[in-house]
Amino acid sequence: MGTTGIHSLALALLCCTCLLSTTYGDYSGGYKLVSLSNYSDGKGLVAYLKSIDDGNFTYGPPVEELQLTVRFETDDRLRVKITDGKKDRWEIPEWIVPRGAKSSEVASLTSSEPEKQGEVSVGDSSFKFSYTSEPFGFAVSRSSGEVLFNTTPNGDIGSLVFKDQYLEITTHLPEKSVLFGLGESTRPDGLRLAPGRVYTLWATDIGSNIPDIDLYGTYPFYMDLRKGVAHGVLLLNSNGMDVLYERDSLTYRVIGGILDFYFFAGPTPLSVVDQYTQLVGRPAAMPYWSLGFHQSRYGYKNLEELEEVVAKYAAAEIPLETMWSDIDYMDEYKDFTTHPVNYPEDKLRTFVEKLHANDMRYVIIVDPGIAIAENYSTYQRGLDLDVYVRNQYGEKYLAQVWPGPVYFPDFLHPNAEEFWTTEVVKFHKKIPFDGLWIDMNEAANFCTGPSCFINPDVVCPGDDYTICCLICNNTVPMSTWDDPPYKINCIGKYRELNGRTIAMSAQHHGGVREYDTHNLFGLTESIMTNRALKTLTKKRPFVLSRSTFVGSGAYTAHWTGDNGASFNDLAYSIVSCLNSGMFGVPMVGADICGFLDDTWEELCNRWIQVGAFYPFARDHGDFHSIHQELYLWDSVASNAKVVLNLRYKLLPYYYTLIFESHNTGAPIMRPLFFEYPEDEKTMDINTQFLVGRGIMVSPVVAAGQDTIAAYFPPGVWYNAFNNSDIVKVEGSGELLVLPAPLDTIQVHYRQGFIIPMQEAAMTTTSARRTPFTLMVVFGDEDEAEAAGELFLDDGEELEMRVKAGRSTFVKFSAHKFQGKGSIEAKVTAGEFALSQHFVLHKITILGLREPPSRVRLTGNLAPVMSPALEISSSGLRSVDISHLNLSLSESFGLSWDFDFDSIASS
Ligand SMILES: *[C@@H]1O[C@H](CO)[C@@H](O)[C@H](O)[C@H]1NC(C)=O
Ligand SMILES: *[C@@H]1O[C@H](CO)[C@@H](O)[C@H](O)[C@H]1NC(C)=O
Ligand SMILES: *[C@@H]1O[C@H](CO)[C@@H](O)[C@H](O)[C@H]1NC(C)=O
Ligand SMILES: *[C@@H]1O[C@H](CO)[C@@H](O)[C@H](O)[C@H]1NC(C)=O
Ligand SMILES: *[C@@H]1O[C@H](CO)[C@@H](O)[C@H](O)[C@H]1NC(C)=O
Ligand SMILES: *[C@@H]1O[C@H](CO)[C@@H](O)[C@H](O)[C@H]1NC(C)=O
Repeated sequence: MGTTGIHSLALALLCCTCLLSTTYGDYSGGYKLVSLSNYSDGKGLVAYLKSIDDGNFTYGPPVEELQLTVRFETDDRLRVKITDGKKDRWEIPEWIVPRGAKSSEVASLTSSEPEKQGEVSVGDSSFKFSYTSEPFGFAVSRSSGEVLFNTTPNGDIGSLVFKDQYLEITTHLPEKSVLFGLGESTRPDGLRLAPGRVYTLWATDIGSNIPDIDLYGTYPFYMDLRKGVAHGVLLLNSNGMDVLYERDSLTYRVIGGILDFYFFAGPTPLSVVDQYTQLVGRPAAMPYWSLGFHQSRYGYKNLEELEEVVAKYAAAEIPLETMWSDIDYMDEYKDFTTHPVNYPEDKLRTFVEKLHANDMRYVIIVDPGIAIAENYSTYQRGLDLDVYVRNQYGEKYLAQVWPGPVYFPDFLHPNAEEFWTTEVVKFHKKIPFDGLWIDMNEAANFCTGPSCFINPDVVCPGDDYTICCLICNNTVPMSTWDDPPYKINCIGKYRELNGRTIAMSAQHHGGVREYDTHNLFGLTESIMTNRALKTLTKKRPFVLSRSTFVGSGAYTAHWTGDNGASFNDLAYSIVSCLNSGMFGVPMVGADICGFLDDTWEELCNRWIQVGAFYPFARDHGDFHSIHQELYLWDSVASNAKVVLNLRYKLLPYYYTLIFESHNTGAPIMRPLFFEYPEDEKTMDINTQFLVGRGIMVSPVVAAGQDTIAAYFPPGVWYNAFNNSDIVKVEGSGELLVLPAPLDTIQVHYRQGFIIPMQEAAMTTTSARRTPFTLMVVFGDEDEAEAAGELFLDDGEELEMRVKAGRSTFVKFSAHKFQGKGSIEAKVTAGEFALSQHFVLHKITILGLREPPSRVRLTGNLAPVMSPALEISSSGLRSVDISHLNLSLSESFGLSWDFDFDSIASS
């Protein structure tokens, strides 16, 4: 932890703070500020707070003395940290969520007498920090004065509460605040948070088909949008918490750790996500192939079934990039094993090699629970490395998952990386998988309790694997971790904290309690899995994790978990994916056609139409439900071809969005309010979304529809399937009704953008070999601009950045004025594109009134008319300039005009 410097200083200051204690005023609880020091660099302060004892011992006695640290970390980031002034408390280690703590930070302080109230602002910072000293409260404002976060106690807002297992702090919210974030949960309310709700942050293994409860991941992060101006607030804390949202306040009730707030100044939604991911980790580079279509199912009985599915996709000519295996491939559900009869190792290996020969991939599931079994070498190596989580008495903590009795690897243990990497590498020698899917990592446990034992009298697992068959005595007195004084609202109080997970009293390396780290299990497993794959392949890893936390995006993709086959689930999946993007995990998708329950033809049609535009597009079904591969219904097959063809054409665009997310945190799939923050109507749009900035998807998410009412912000929008069917909206945005029979999803290009594309193909590898085209999308004004970008590399090398010889970056800009126009491509590091023979064959220009009659190439090339050039125009708006042969390795320019003479002479 990088706080050591400040901490030793803190101790030095303690003696004077004791002397400063004075009489208490007439307050109910809370704290008073007793000493204050400025950082010598002027960028913050350290203060001490003393408890005003009101004799209220609900949830325990108050921590007597607190240390407050305020740091203006960057111009648009402010940190406000409150912790125990006398002893260390649990804080998320830097290696888990790196946040750039500099141990060399200048901590020289000058002390001053605390004033009744005070304010600190720093030259270029967007923020001001102010406090009242008795009772203590603080506020964070913009330098302009607008108060963003205000904990100052008053009639409505209670004082700060800081107890060992209960921290409470409330901020006032103005009327105009619209909040987003605080996940993960399924949100029938839509994107914006709903006043009156309690958002409980507790990693939980439960179906995401259940709305408004705590799900797999936890994100104590929200965005506040006020009349078009956004800021973000992160409470970096891994303990369980309830966040109560009322119209005029937000209250955190946290059961441990510290109050460690980060404020991000925005002012746009995109810049908030940029500032937040700059702190917690930029989203990982994802391999190019992961943008292909994926097929999975829990319950593929044997290898023959996998082979059949692959063959049927090919026969139906629906692109399939990746086959997945759920736990079916394992021997008795033991990690890193194959089922000797259903998935014999040699045959499975041959199958995977055949997939590879056809440019396809194979991803397998791995669960964290390691079966306790004789002669199971993975289990034995875990024992040898002593990596298993321990119970409160220091014995290995016994749990039960699919294989029956298991121990959990402690991913905080210094040996965890060696253990996990060894297993991944060893298994890869047997089955050369391409990515790992880490499930059940909340962590799920089919038993509940601090200490369970194997029952020698029963076969475990029994017939129903999910019923606990260990002996767990839950009448033993519970520790204060297993049964803390404040109960968070786990699944609406349906579960206790220990329910179906590792007991809170269990211990990780160094005696760290599960109580503090529970929400980090999935993130730490993602870190270890990502590292293992990097060690193994030296290439960009693909990891898909169910449980996530702040910073997970730097290691893993995410799917929205066990959704159901219903139109509601389809509709809510869009909000879930948009939220994941906002949380810094942009590579996200929901199980296409629905996981739980039987899907049906109409639903599957509508779902593939949406799912084809998720950043991560995977069809995954449950053991107990009917099959749902896309070729099973003629209508689904033909719709799938249409939408997946467009997706595959758009791969260069999607991939460039991955590059953008990796550099700036920008989500791939974005809510409309990200681009139109000043348009209040966009805040309630929950089933339309943008892909990047230039494409809008307006799907049908209800049964029996043949039209769709979709919101169009002002501008010209072109149907992306045929470049025609223009929607033109003037003035303010409009809700329009468009045709949407079962074979139609409305997808539009937005004016002002240039979309790089290639041809559709059956795999991403073959699509990459096709020529490039550019879609230049103008508005219908006389004069207009358009711009776009393209990032190219081999799609799998570890780093994703512009680097000579390894990648190429192209910036496109276009301009039109009356009958004339031009396009410019500026290439950086063109060698890579040259080596790959990446060539632009066609430019389609949307939004021209007259088809040009003459096109000239300029730039590095001699200004000649290309002899092979062809201009064709389907209607006035869409003009193709084809037969170009422009290498993407060199900057170029192209201009056109409208010339009557040349028309007359031709
Ligand atoms: C005592 O503290 C708890 C927790 O902060 C609070 O909910 C309760 O209202 C307080 N009781 C009184 C009498 O102030
Ligand atoms: C600390 O900084 C505040 C605001 O920048 C200033 O008002 C105060 O005098 C400073 N105190 C000391 C001791 O420098
Ligand atoms: C474990 O291996 C030993 C020695 O090969 C063998 O005798 C024993 O039956 C095995 N146990 C199980 C459960 O397979
Ligand atoms: C469970 O624990 C309680 C309290 O320690 C004890 O009285 C009881 O006998 C235990 N029951 C079993 C089945 O071990
Ligand atoms: C373009 O595609 C849309 C559906 O995506 C359809 O409604 C429309 O009729 C098509 N227009 C033309 C001219 O083909
Ligand atoms: C395209 O250009 C490359 C060199 O730039 C050339 O070798 C190739 O023959 C050209 N192809 C056509 C179809 O003109």
